[in-house]
Amino acid sequence: MKILLLAGDGIGPEIMVEAEKVLTALALPVMLDRALVGGAAYAATGHPLPPETLAKAKAADGILFGAVGDPRFDSVERHLRPEQAILGLRAELGLFANLRPAKMFAGLEDSSALRPEVASAIDLLIVRELNGDVYFGEKGTRMTASGEREGYDIMAYRESEVRRIAHVAFRAAQGRRGRLCSVDKANVLETSQLWRDVVVEVAADYSDVALSHMYVDNAAMQLVRNPGQFDVVVTGNLFGDILSDQASMCVGSIGLLASASLSEGKQGLYEPIHGSAPDISGQGVANPLAMILSLAMLLRHSGDDEASAARIEAAVAKVLADGCRGADLGGTMGTAALGDAVVSALNG
Ligand code: NAD
Ligand code: IPM
Ligand code: MN
Repeated sequence: MKILLLAGDGIGPEIMVEAEKVLTALALPVMLDRALVGGAAYAATGHPLPPETLAKAKAADGILFGAVGDPRFDSVERHLRPEQAILGLRAELGLFANLRPAKMFAGLEDSSALRPEVASAIDLLIVRELNGDVYFGEKGTRMTASGEREGYDIMAYRESEVRRIAHVAFRAAQGRRGRLCSVDKANVLETSQLWRDVVVEVAADYSDVALSHMYVDNAAMQLVRNPGQFDVVVTGNLFGDILSDQASMCVGSIGLLASASLSEGKQGLYEPIHGSAPDISGQGVANPLAMILSLAMLLRHSGDDEASAARIEAAVAKVLADGCRGADLGGTMGTAALGDAVVSALNG
């Protein structure tokens, strides 16, 4: 298997080192390659997603991605900003299905922002559409007739886009507890009404899945009131972005949630749901567990190696059950110490 490592910016390279330690400890027959991405690539080449990086990404079976984003480049032209690298990879590789699982870890219930008895029931999967929505519609800044500046971003979904993500979500629900909640804003948005209509049409193929619908404002509330009610949640690009960050704090830290971005085939990009965390980068305190869990997802989905994925996940669970905690979870362990603890748990 060919794995491309794209460490990126901020804490990206720090947490990537820890995922590589885990990969080395597994001693799998993989071919590793690396490339520049994000602000690091922009600084070196003038583009956040240089052609060499895109070519290597297209040729890889699995891409392990750290994070992009650098405050130094927050005001360069939008198409050259670090974030365009991850958006470009998602679009160019057709990675339309973003799976963001959130599950409580044994021993972590007291670290949740929620009461332990509420948090302990969390075991959900957010299926976030990743190639459409307000992210990829026409956007710009224009002058109104009265001479005001006006920013706009068109929100749109085609029925084919909704249908393919709905199928992914229904199939995921079949493999879990058989419940799917589609989150939208159909009471206000035409985009969401079409979303809901198409999800209902697709449901006809999945009589074994119980489908429900929820408005996104209510979903944000229900996620903290009673997250245990959710099995699979399917939603659009923007709502999924926001709800997944929220779900991370229900578990305990944004440094814990991994994701897989998949196309129709086996190829995928795997990354923590968090960003480059410029506020803590360079300090050796970032939580590497989301990055390490992203490696597990890579081995499972793109490598067909369920055994190695399960081994990594068990090692992470053991480390947390043993009380290992970084600063994000109220502890004192640094990035490297946490990575080392996972490697020990892997072998132990
Ligand atoms: P962020 O996720 O980077 O950080 C939010 C907060 O969470 C910060 O206080 C940070 O220190 C903390 N945090 C994040 N990851 C952590 C970890 N592993 N361990 C401990 N603490 C962690 O979000 P932001 O601050 O809004 O964005 C920073 C930059 O990252 C921006 O440039 C943004 O565009 C970018 N970003 C990139 C991605 C990506 O590459 N996929 C995702 C989100 C944000
Ligand atoms: C994420 C990030 C990205 C997104 C940004 C960096 C483009 O927030 O992966 O969650 O909004 O999708
Ligand atoms: Mn996000």
